[in-house]
Amino acid sequence: MKTIIEPFRIKSVEPIRITTAEQRHRHLVEASYNLFRIAARHVMIDLLTDSGTGAMSSEQWAGIMRGDESYAGADSYHRFLATVRRITGFDNVLPTHQGRASERILFQVLLGSPPAGCGRIVPNNAHFDTTRANIEHCGAEAVDLLTDLGRCPTEEGPFKGNLDVTALERLLTERADDVPLVVVTVTCNTNGGQPVSLENLRAVRDLCDRFGKPLYLDAARFAENAWFIKQREPGQGARSPRDIVLDMFSLADGAMISAKKDGLVNIGGVLLIRDPATFAEAGDLLILTEGFVTYGGLAGRDLEAMAIGFTEVLDEDYLRYRVRSVAYLGEKLLAGGVSTVRPPGGHAVYIDAAAFCPHIPPAQFPGQAVAAALYEHGGVRACEIGSVMMGEHAPMELVRLAIPRRTYTQSHIDYVVEVVLEVHHRRTDLRGFRIVEQAGSLRHFTARFEPV
Ligand code: F0G
Repeated sequence: MKTIIEPFRIKSVEPIRITTAEQRHRHLVEASYNLFRIAARHVMIDLLTDSGTGAMSSEQWAGIMRGDESYAGADSYHRFLATVRRITGFDNVLPTHQGRASERILFQVLLGSPPAGCGRIVPNNAHFDTTRANIEHCGAEAVDLLTDLGRCPTEEGPFKGNLDVTALERLLTERADDVPLVVVTVTCNTNGGQPVSLENLRAVRDLCDRFGKPLYLDAARFAENAWFIKQREPGQGARSPRDIVLDMFSLADGAMISAKKDGLVNIGGVLLIRDPATFAEAGDLLILTEGFVTYGGLAGRDLEAMAIGFTEVLDEDYLRYRVRSVAYLGEKLLAGGVSTVRPPGGHAVYIDAAAFCPHIPPAQFPGQAVAAALYEHGGVRACEIGSVMMGEHAPMELVRLAIPRRTYTQSHIDYVVEVVLEVHHRRTDLRGFRIVEQAGSLRHFTARFEPV
């Protein structure tokens, strides 16, 4: 059978409120053209993020009822712990409320507060915005070491998330003392949800060993990465995602995981640390702001849902459908003449806004223009990943259509395709924006815009 169906049926539904273009225009103006400021009820298809926005399974909802809310050592914690140990091979596990809590704790331990972090450098294939912000908050510098291929949206390649090992070797040779850790993000969200190969992870591991540096994974989408390895890396096709995931984690000294992606939950995170002394320090910091080490700012029921989600995400039927359904969107846009990051990522399709609107310069935020137009035209909410989000660090001007897990059907995606193609058809009408108000290191959440 050629058709890959959604490997689930729907048990509970949530209404989508149908709005008109006039209504959406008003909402857009009232939100100062920032899609983060628009009420979710005014969005028809919400592709702002795949983070915490997916549907849980009936098993997970059953787990929610089973949640043990004891303050310390709850049954739910032990089930969570056993699952995370089994799928990652790590013994030392801390639950956190989401990925950025893991980031804050880890970087505080390894970098310290300014001025301790000043002058230090944390390399990554490409930092996600919160990772970068947490590193900079410690006074350190976050550098992206993608390969040339990884920075080119239109070139095809199986592992465009790979870290440039030559550049890492150069950095470590020149400034070894300033680099406290190396991070690799799997899959690499910033350049299009692109995977990292096992071969690349091994090469980074070798360099870290040579220079005595710990290697941490930013592993929010570890299962999607493993599926790409199975599909694309020579010699990996016959292996299970579970085995590949174990291999990926075995190469690392630790990992930060936002469980809101491949944990298939609405909230949750994990911090893994092999070194016992570092783990103990992280536990102390966790207690300071997140809660006790057996719940990490979560309810027992959240731990229960995470344990089940981490198991379900490794199901091959799920992963096949997941990656294929995102590719379906990518292929339809490409066939319609829309330039996107190629190949499609595991969790999202990224429109190349610079190619979509060559008449809008980066300083006038072409990605913002496309995202605003998609909302106004069809009620589709996407996310700018370009100069608004990353300022001068933006490697490309992208608009991300992130697909929540197990949430939208193929007809929703067909509708999205139609909206994008219609906006593309009249793309020369789109105008750029200027920022009239902004604040903080993550300005994209709150900034206000005005059409140029
Ligand atoms: N690392 C990566 C690669 C991410 O994509 C995210 C979140 C985080 C860390 C932080 O995790 O949100 O649980 O604190 N990405 C979401 C997104 C927000 O839309 O891509 P968090």
